[in-house]
Amino acid sequence: MTEQRGNFGSKLGAILATAGSAVGLGNIWRFPYMTGENGGAAFILIYIICVLLLGIPCMLGEFIIGRHGASNTYRAYSKLSEGKAWKYVGLLGVVTGFLITGYYAVVAGWCLQYIFATVMGHLNGTPQYYIDYFNDFSTNPLRPIFWTAVIIGITHFVIVHGVRGGIERASKLLMPTLFVLLLVIVVASCMLPNASQGIRFLFYPELDKLNSEVFLGALGQSFYSLSIAMGCICTYASYFSRQTNLTTSAIQIGIIDSIVAILAGLMIFPAAFSVGVNPDSGPSLIFITLPNVFQQAFGGSSFVGLIISLMFYTLLSLAALTSLMSLHEVSTAFFYEELHISRKKGAVIVTISTLIIGAICSLSLGEWNFLSLSGKNLFSIFDFVTGQIFLPLGGFLTCIFLGWYVPKDILKSEFTNWGTLKGTFFGIFLFLIRFVCPISILAIFLHQFNII
Ligand code: PFF
Repeated sequence: MTEQRGNFGSKLGAILATAGSAVGLGNIWRFPYMTGENGGAAFILIYIICVLLLGIPCMLGEFIIGRHGASNTYRAYSKLSEGKAWKYVGLLGVVTGFLITGYYAVVAGWCLQYIFATVMGHLNGTPQYYIDYFNDFSTNPLRPIFWTAVIIGITHFVIVHGVRGGIERASKLLMPTLFVLLLVIVVASCMLPNASQGIRFLFYPELDKLNSEVFLGALGQSFYSLSIAMGCICTYASYFSRQTNLTTSAIQIGIIDSIVAILAGLMIFPAAFSVGVNPDSGPSLIFITLPNVFQQAFGGSSFVGLIISLMFYTLLSLAALTSLMSLHEVSTAFFYEELHISRKKGAVIVTISTLIIGAICSLSLGEWNFLSLSGKNLFSIFDFVTGQIFLPLGGFLTCIFLGWYVPKDILKSEFTNWGTLKGTFFGIFLFLIRFVCPISILAIFLHQFNII
């Protein structure tokens, strides 16, 4: 017997949970670096345009599919298409979310290990020490898997408590905590000597750095950062109430996500420039460069240094956890609704299988490094297949589905909450989802394979 579906109990809860999905490692380890490297303020401007014209409409589209379907992503697409092949686009979202959960959990586990290392006083040494520490840890066969299991265990605990008692309650606690931690580190970082150089690096508009690559980079980043085309947004929207204003919610989430990304830049660059360290991107930024920067800027063995480092890794863990919750929920909803089992059993299936995927990914960085394909380890393969193939494919097909297949009156009634809202922007939404979004997604997809 299928249990009664849960839903979000309040508007704030729904917004915070969905913003929790969006705000994640992508905001902290990717956005700041891309901004600094790709034209500073000019990049931020392009990014915001991408969020407004592409990210928010696609999020709104997923909201419509999810709330209309009031079921997991696969079934939601199936309902709207009356069982036609479009349901496989929904399934693609579920598969993408499922595959990401495993490797995202590994990185989230690393964040937990770094909280532990900070408390134990291990994050204190020469720049080379941080490189060795990270390489030793991430290639260790057992420790990363232990922390992956811990973070998946916490996620499981939240998920089995349901949408309202688990996801919503946790998001209402974790998201404000995340903001406070972020703000405190931003202030501490901006008060360091020479911090202004970092602020300048981030915000100085360098128009000559703008080219087509930068545009496509901003577009890809906006989709990843808003968790689009991975089933998450659609699944969360299936728990929205009929009163939720979908347009306002998508705009609010887009704004929250962009503010966090910009604040992450203000946390990282002033500190890095203050001690003259060149920031880089990806895992090495947060697990090698930043512990070194924080140690030099605030004093590794001093109380302030310890607190800042502790706050930083707690912030990262919270950001990763709220995204992980949404990823886990995509598959949990799918399993329990499609297999007609309890929510708890669905969650157990997801937890165990993502733990296995996570463990294999983690081992592929060390002892199982034979698990590679043309020089790419399993970790990068997962990242590539989900982020560069499934994400654009799912996003593109969703736009075509909504813009050209789903009857306009269904879209309009969801958009206007069955005629109770004005729907002033409906025409613009339709235009964006029919033309601008699919063409842009196609452009990034083809460009990354050097086809255009
Ligand atoms: N949006 C998250 C981030 O910026 O880190 C990553 C993410 C979470 C992507 C959930 C996709 C997803 F379904």
